[in-house]
Amino acid sequence: MKKIAVLTSGGDAPGMNGAIRSVTRCAVQQGWTVVGVERGFCGLLEGAFREMSARDVGGILHQGGTVLGSARSPEFKRLEFQKKALERLREEAVEALVVIGGNGSQTGAAALSGLGFPVVGIASTIDNDLLGSDITIGVDTALNTAVCALDRLRTTARSHQRAFLVEVMGRDCGYLALMTGLAAGAELVVEPEVAVTPFEVAETLQAAYARGKRHGLVVVAEGAQYNARAIEDYFIEHQVRLGLDLRVVILGHLQRGGAPSVFDRILSSRLGAGAVEALASGRFGVLIGLIKGEVSETPLEEIVGATKPVNSALINLASVLER
Ligand code: F6P
Repeated sequence: MKKIAVLTSGGDAPGMNGAIRSVTRCAVQQGWTVVGVERGFCGLLEGAFREMSARDVGGILHQGGTVLGSARSPEFKRLEFQKKALERLREEAVEALVVIGGNGSQTGAAALSGLGFPVVGIASTIDNDLLGSDITIGVDTALNTAVCALDRLRTTARSHQRAFLVEVMGRDCGYLALMTGLAAGAELVVEPEVAVTPFEVAETLQAAYARGKRHGLVVVAEGAQYNARAIEDYFIEHQVRLGLDLRVVILGHLQRGGAPSVFDRILSSRLGAGAVEALASGRFGVLIGLIKGEVSETPLEEIVGATKPVNSALINLASVLER
């Protein structure tokens, strides 16, 4: 192996820079040349390569986002574009590719691998919905951001005896919502995995107030059957009967921003090293993730199209602690 490329793709996640740095420095240690690809698969199709030395990735470990830039590339689902990407890699004399990203990005990685190109993925998404890693890069930072927001909202909620619906990201997966709710001591978590109607949200809040609570915090996953706005609509429609003062906060991309936590800096450093180790040993077509605390490899074909289920024991725990 003489030359590898690395890219970040899909929604950015705090810690991606740590993975770029680790891949680059571990590869340089092997005596390889590293090229960074700008803007994910979009940049790959345009041939947007830039060589990166160990020095070039200095001072980025503590920075959020990705210095390579990221993008969503819907056209990459098509074979003609995947073949074009392989042409670009071969023109550049790149012998292997590291893809840092979540579900969609690893589907692209699996497609290139299926065409015979050496690819290794690194599990990175705040959604934590990827099979092949108990926790993905960015999750810990996103959770800390969300919990910090909830802690702040609680103080104003208490002052005004209000209820807040706080919507968090996570796409179709309730992991971020569940863990935010657990860590912030929310009254209720509304997630895609468990059907909860706006009527039940109102009932839960009323019961909490009846037990003596002076405020309410409800965490809503963006992918839940009823998102925060839908629940708010119900509360507005039945405002007089419910008698609850409710506000909605949608955290949105705030959760993707900011400096990576210590955990994400270390996780990204470990997974980056794991990717280079896999390539150096000739193991391709795998996702590098963390399973039971160990850097692990899972075949990309096993994770494509699959979603990691949320731990049902944690869902049960949240429902007990919510009381
Ligand atoms: O996959 C990460 C994520 O932040 C999801 O939680 C969210 O649904 C989506 O990306 C938002 O995507 P975009 O930044 O393209 O709006």
